[in-house]
Amino acid sequence: MSEAIQITATGTPGPFVLVIFGASGDLTRRKLIPALFHLYREGLLPENFAIVGYARSELGDEGFRELIYQSIAEHARETGDEDESRRRFNSTVRYQQGRYDDERDIRRLAGRLQAITSELNIPANYLFYLSTPPEMIAPIAEQLARVQLNHRGPNPWSRLVVEKPFGRDLTSAKELNQILQQSFAEEQIFRIDHYLGKETVQNLLVLRLANSVFEPLWNNRYIDHVQITAAETLGVEGRAGYYEQAGALRDMVQNHLMHLLSLAAMEPPVALMADAIRDEKVKVLRSLRPIPARCAMNGVVRAQYGPGEQKGQSAKGYLQEDGVATDSTTETFVAFKAMIDNWRWAGVPFYLRTGKRMPVRITEIGIHFRSAPQVLFNAKGELPANFLAIRIQPNEGIAMQLQVKRPGLTQAIEPFLMDFGYADAFKQRLSDAYERLLLDAARGDTTLFTRADEVEAAWAYVDPIIQGCEGKGTLPQYPAGSWGPREADALIEDEGRRWQLIKRKKQ
Ligand code: BG6
Repeated sequence: MSEAIQITATGTPGPFVLVIFGASGDLTRRKLIPALFHLYREGLLPENFAIVGYARSELGDEGFRELIYQSIAEHARETGDEDESRRRFNSTVRYQQGRYDDERDIRRLAGRLQAITSELNIPANYLFYLSTPPEMIAPIAEQLARVQLNHRGPNPWSRLVVEKPFGRDLTSAKELNQILQQSFAEEQIFRIDHYLGKETVQNLLVLRLANSVFEPLWNNRYIDHVQITAAETLGVEGRAGYYEQAGALRDMVQNHLMHLLSLAAMEPPVALMADAIRDEKVKVLRSLRPIPARCAMNGVVRAQYGPGEQKGQSAKGYLQEDGVATDSTTETFVAFKAMIDNWRWAGVPFYLRTGKRMPVRITEIGIHFRSAPQVLFNAKGELPANFLAIRIQPNEGIAMQLQVKRPGLTQAIEPFLMDFGYADAFKQRLSDAYERLLLDAARGDTTLFTRADEVEAAWAYVDPIIQGCEGKGTLPQYPAGSWGPREADALIEDEGRRWQLIKRKKQ
């Protein structure tokens, strides 16, 4: 493979302290600690670096180190066994117990941070990672400002990383933005969406804009429609408390699917700079044709998984899951058609669907080109149209379906798949999304984070859909392990198309 061209900031960030609010929680254990450990082992974190866990539980430094030890043993790709890097990593870790909205406790944290930075002889650079219940985000930001831990930088700097959900509707998202922006400047706020850290999501722009063949075709003249599927095999997995209040529209569509859609549809940015890219994404969101609340019930398919079977095992229905109300109307599946009213996409439907307890785990963007003209080989309109699949996960890669002549003396034509798989091509593991995002936040690069106006534009589109659907009677059910309700097929088939995914061989 020839030499790579670097497209974003690289290298090790300068010294800093990472403070994890919600340090005893599930995300810290499953995602943050393993990601930090991998970065540390690969020499991507500075030598003068510390992690401070902050939570309400009485853990103490040793208790938190034990939690970290377990998290690495259970969730890290490489555990490092007892090697030097694991020992050194553990020595970077401290714990501070406290409440999230109590000024005295946050002041104690400030004192501890000062002691740590003097001990390490580093500037007061702080990355505050807010992995707490959503209602704690605003109070923490306010308390940090009150004790002057919100210094804008550049030297020293302090930044906030905010986990989703960011608000539960447009009004609450706007309120949260306002509160955060009273204490922190926009460039200090990193609203995280882990989809943006996925390798293939980042590759979307490279594919589109570093290859001259695609851009001329990337419009309503050559593209018939676009499909975005995010299917999970998992069910609600013990998160009913959160999920019952969210549902697929808030949990997946407002954030992950809106990012995939805007990256696939945006105009080329004027520069590879965070704001230039995000400006174009926001324009797409603002060009989405509103689905008024009164139309949502007819245009949007929502459903719940019922009892069924997955991989030969029987699976419970959503209503039978622990913590789910027996008359819950929270959707675990949603499918709908989005239209982008701008010059590039006028008339091109974007069909989106996402669901839990589907037969396979797959996230894919399918670009379906128009059919060849109905002359010559396609005189009877029988040839399948070309189709470009951008496989976000798993088996990350890109595949293009073309028509080829089958060898022989007849004139038989059949579809052929040109298939690029990351694992085959690069023989190198893909980083976890959190590794990429933590590193970018430490470097101060906001490109892969959601800007205030972006989060609001996504809510402005999704909120009326939620308002139009919520609490409107029981939902259709689909058997666990199936592709959703019949209505989701009808949504696309009634328009002469069908849901399609590329069948890729396992790498
Ligand atoms: C999270 C949602 O943001 O994304 C989960 O809260 C969902 O419900 C998850 O399962 C999907 O992420 P991934 O990376 O497995 O596609």
